[in-house]
Amino acid sequence: MRPKGLVLSGGPCSVYDQEAPRSDPGIFSLGIPVLGICYGAQLMVQQLGGIVEKAEKREFGRADLKIAEPMGIFADLAVQEAYQVWMSHGDRIERLPDDFVASAESAHSPCAAVRHKSQPFIGVQFHPEVAHTLIGTEILGNFLFQVCACSPSWTMRSFIDATVAAIHQQVQERRAICALSGGVDSSVAAALVDKAIGDRLTCIHVDNGLMRGGESATILKFFKENSKLNLIDVDASRYFLSRLQGVSDPEEKRKRIGRGFIEIFEQEAHKIGQVDFLVQGTLYPDVIESVSFRGAAPIKSHHNVGGLPEIMRLTLIEPLRELFKDEVRQLGQELGLPDEAIHRQPFPGPGLGIRVLGEITEERLTILRQADAIVLEEMTKSGWYRRVWQSFAVLLPIQTVGVMGDGRTYEHVIALRAVDSRDAMTADWSRLPYDILAVISNRIINEVRGVNRVVYDISSKPPATIEWE
Ligand code: XMP
Repeated sequence: MRPKGLVLSGGPCSVYDQEAPRSDPGIFSLGIPVLGICYGAQLMVQQLGGIVEKAEKREFGRADLKIAEPMGIFADLAVQEAYQVWMSHGDRIERLPDDFVASAESAHSPCAAVRHKSQPFIGVQFHPEVAHTLIGTEILGNFLFQVCACSPSWTMRSFIDATVAAIHQQVQERRAICALSGGVDSSVAAALVDKAIGDRLTCIHVDNGLMRGGESATILKFFKENSKLNLIDVDASRYFLSRLQGVSDPEEKRKRIGRGFIEIFEQEAHKIGQVDFLVQGTLYPDVIESVSFRGAAPIKSHHNVGGLPEIMRLTLIEPLRELFKDEVRQLGQELGLPDEAIHRQPFPGPGLGIRVLGEITEERLTILRQADAIVLEEMTKSGWYRRVWQSFAVLLPIQTVGVMGDGRTYEHVIALRAVDSRDAMTADWSRLPYDILAVISNRIINEVRGVNRVVYDISSKPPATIEWE
């Protein structure tokens, strides 16, 4: 591979765990730069003869970094006494290997950044890859372009050219179908594959009965008016809802929905004739959250990754599999997609199925649809729809006591969720103005029959996730 440098990433293990992943010690004699991040830094220190131990005080969240040497990965930063970084560790570096020095410290980590005196080996205890580390991009840029001497030749244009050529090469004269939900990911994936194989691509929009009110009709109209894609729509709402009857476990719901999609796509492909490929708008975060790490449970099975059946007739094409949502939006812009498609808030493939907590019934879906329509309307009217990453309603599986008119009620609770994020890997709850919350709550309780209480979710991700299931 002839890499120009290596990054040893973070991970959930402690370097002393039996199962802890290790690197081949040979990487330290390749003569190329190595950057260790969190666990990766501890591993490098331990493998080169230093000591890592359980810290007396763990460090999670924001920390202030004091940089002793403004060079190497810390070169050319705006001068400040301390820099905000994000930490997430229980162990810490207690003794450095020979020839290593500490180049930065935080309140609980005297070795918050370390480097070898003469070799290009660098470790950071904090996470430069998360948005809360305000100098993270500069640090990673310094590692790539200064320490490793890489050149920034990757652009959206070069990505489009390389991806279109690769899809063309893979599909050749055969046919593909694309799972088109109408969200930004599948719209961009369809546009990209359309560029590669033109009318040998057929897009299929499946109404799984878990869409928001009127959503499928709006999406179909949008694509008919704004694109030349071959588009088939399938109403499979009964099929999905009957498969979900009596199911309340979130992972089971996700898996049934994921498998349901594939079954419908395979049936539709069969009707078209010989189809060999299925295009999906899977993103990198879907992949990361759906995998299980050394026997631990996956965070959640995204319908298009962990929810897939074991045997599939169609071969997957997932051109966005290594991109984050913000990059997909840039890509959509570069491909000339209308603003409306690019700036739509993310909506999960399992749809309202993972927002009606517990069992999904027509009655509960109707309540959620009505509440969600009010959230969407008020967020748009107030200009907040585009200011947040996502905003939506969730129907909780409990009832609470209230009083309406002069009578007692015992009805459903709606939770509002609005979050700010850059890539959905981390998120914080949006500080929506009280006035907007008040209008939304008031309207939902007045207008949606069966709801007597509205609550606002004030949890960040992690430790919560964006969707409740
Ligand atoms: P979580 O809930 O994991 O969500 O914090 C991260 C982002 O992904 C969306 N999401 C999904 N998208 N299929 C999707 O296409 C899924 O199964 C799925 N589950 C969550 C979620 O809305 C958020 O934007």
